Order: sequence, then structure tokens, then C-alpha cells
Amino acid sequence: MPRVAFMTLGCKVNQFETEVIEGLFARQGYQTVDFNEPADIYVINTCSVTHIGERKSRQFIRRASRMNPEAMVVVTGCYAQISPDQVAAIPGVDLIIGTQDRQRIVELVEAARDQRRQVNAVSDIMRAWEFEDIPLFSRQGRTRAFLKIQEGCDNYCTYCIIPYTRGHLRSRPMTSVIAEAEKLIAAGFGEIVLTGIHLGAYGRDLGGISLEDAVAALLSLPGLQRLRLSSLESIEVSDGLIRLMEQDERFCRHLHLPLQAGSDQVLQAMNRHYTTADFRQQLDVLLSRLPDLAVSTDIIVGFPGETEALFDETLAFVGTLPLARIHVFPYSPRTGTPAASYPGQIGEPEKRRRTHALQELGDVLAEKYRQRFIGSQYTVLFEQTKSGLTEGLTSNYLRVYTKATSEDDIVGKIHCVTLNSLYKDGLMGILHKPCS
Ligand code: F3S
Repeated sequence: MPRVAFMTLGCKVNQFETEVIEGLFARQGYQTVDFNEPADIYVINTCSVTHIGERKSRQFIRRASRMNPEAMVVVTGCYAQISPDQVAAIPGVDLIIGTQDRQRIVELVEAARDQRRQVNAVSDIMRAWEFEDIPLFSRQGRTRAFLKIQEGCDNYCTYCIIPYTRGHLRSRPMTSVIAEAEKLIAAGFGEIVLTGIHLGAYGRDLGGISLEDAVAALLSLPGLQRLRLSSLESIEVSDGLIRLMEQDERFCRHLHLPLQAGSDQVLQAMNRHYTTADFRQQLDVLLSRLPDLAVSTDIIVGFPGETEALFDETLAFVGTLPLARIHVFPYSPRTGTPAASYPGQIGEPEKRRRTHALQELGDVLAEKYRQRFIGSQYTVLFEQTKSGLTEGLTSNYLRVYTKATSEDDIVGKIHCVTLNSLYKDGLMGILHKPCS
């Protein structure tokens, strides 16, 4: 049986796609092995969102050809899409596929192997107008499953390479979304996380349907235990979505709403379509209706033209927000994006200083958020046991640890926990079976 190994860089969408590709190989009789084991084929699913994502992608490509010089090295994903020539120049690469045509990956691998020459199968992503609908291969053994329902982005933020690596907005047809979710429920997943490149735009290309419709349809599926959304634009959280969250406890009270900057001048230069006042107002509405909602965010520091005073604006603004978590990213110039040639590029040491300052603030806000829940009872979907502690997540994305005995057998199940104290990145709790 031929062996295939996978390495994924980048985001949740990439992780989902690697699993889809793994399923395509499994259907054709390939055996998946760990990336550090000898394999006949290595597939590296790359990322291009920062220079670090690209560098790591190159490192894993080189490592694959060192592991087994006889193996086929297949490079796919965003870096392959945007820079196929750079990828082709790395010794040992046999096949390059971008972010489209992955349903043909096994066929392309077998053809390239027979031809015994490097094949570049990257197509023009800007000509892709339909969601590449590849059915999931039934997977088991984990508690949370990602389900990609949308591809591409037409927003063109001035710093972002993704519209060029992923192309225009395309949505998975609703019938396919439902069918895939049913498979995941039948396979025993306790939580489904809807993902996409521009998730809030789901359905715009399908004529009259929206993310809210998809969520409502999924919540009506028998057996669904939990549904979560990945990243969403703050201005795209509709009243209907909030209502669904109010009405149905299975719809997780957690929203990741990228702010990107806390200065209106920087937001405008980034081509973001909201102001800091809009963001705050949305947060106020959300938290007045869903007081325990976890709102996490992304912020980019060191965007060109972000003076120290403008960064201080961001720091001051973010300090006033009741955020549950902040992910900080130093700006990385991406060739081909407008911001890469803006004046006022910031040096790396200063970006590092700003990253550190904002991360420190993020830690304070996160602890403040977690503190609020000490003494409360929450349901937790348990995921794994490590060093005598079983851990999982609440609906509002609190990581909870508990001492469960081996008879408890709680992994993969939802149980009630009383949250007692702060612990590591989350809280320590006492297990109740059943909920009181
Ligand atoms: Fe990276 Fe592409 Fe995701 S650039 S972050 S893998 S959409």
C-alpha cells in the first residue's frame, strides 16, 4: 500500500483542506503516515499570509525531499498558488497545485509520477467562480470538526495576500453544507466549526441566502450538539445571527471578530470598512444581549504609516474593550499588495516591541474575562486527557481542566463543570455528572 504524509501550514481552512485531500488519497487505497516517517508521497499544504508562513513552507518542502529522496514531493495551497516559480525552483519538488483543482490531486500525482518530470498544475484562481465541492471522507476519533462552507474574498484589504491566493468569493451550496454536517454528526463529532475565507459573506453568490440561513438549517439537524463560527467581520454579525445565539444554546457563544487596528486612520489605510466606533457599538450590542459571549480578535501592528501615536491609539482603544483574547500579528509586507509599497514601513525591532506591548495587554484582558466565570457552572465538551487532567472547551471558548478518574470516560462528551479557579490558559473545574 503506498504511503502518503501530510504537513499543513497556515489557517483552519488549510487544515480542513488537508483532511479533504487525505480523504481523497485514502479512497484510492493510500495509507497515511506521520510526516516524520518514510513515505512514498509528501504533501505540503502551504501558507503565504506572512513571510514566516512562506519560509516555513519552504523548510518543510526541503525536509520532505531529505526524508526520502525517492519520494514524490507535492506542494499545494496558498504559497504554491501565488509563487509557483519559487516552489518549482526548490530541488525535489515534483508537483505544484494551487488552491484549486484539489479534487484531481491523486490523478495528478499518478500522472506526474508516470511522466517522471516536474508538473506545474496551478491554474488562474481569478477564473474560479464555483466552490470546489469535495465530499469529506468520514473521519472519527476527534471531538471538533471544521467544515469549510465558503472560499475566496473580494474585500482586498491593502495588507492581505489572500484574495490573490484564494480568488473570488464562492459559497458551498446549502444542500452540500447540510450533507457534510450530517456526515460529521453521524461520525460522532460533538462540535462543528464553520470556516471560510470570508465566512460572513456566505451565500452572497448563491442568490438570497446568508450565513444566518446556513446556521438555522444546521441547528435544525437532529443530533447536532454544538455549532461554532470561526472568524467573522464585526459588521457582518446580523441581528438574526445574534437571535439564533440567544435562542439556541448549541450555537456557541463565541465570536472571533478581527479588529486589525484601534485607530481610524490605520483602519482606513488598511481598507477596512468600519471605524473603531462601529466596532465598539457592535460589541456593546452583542454583550448587552449575550453577556457571557467571548469575543476574540486579531490585530496587526506596525502597518506602514502607523506612527507611535497611532499605535498608542490602538493600545488605548483595545484596553477599553472587554475582549476574551487577542491575537497579535506584526505586519508582513506581501508582494503585490498595495500596502507593501506604502511609505512609512516600520522596522522589525519596533514591530516586535509593539507586538509584545499588545500581547501583554491581551493577557490582562484574557485573565479579566476568565476571572468573571469563577464560581459559575458551564457545560464543557471534553477533548483529551493529558498528565492526569482532562480538558475541553465551554461554549464561550473557556479552556477548562478537570481531574477526572479513568472510569469517568468523559472525552468526546459534554458535561457540566463548576469553574473553581484560574489555571494555565483557562480554568480548573469540578465535574458534575449529570448537570445539577
Ligand atoms: Fe495562509 Fe492561505 Fe490560510 S495564506 S492563512 S493558508 S488562506
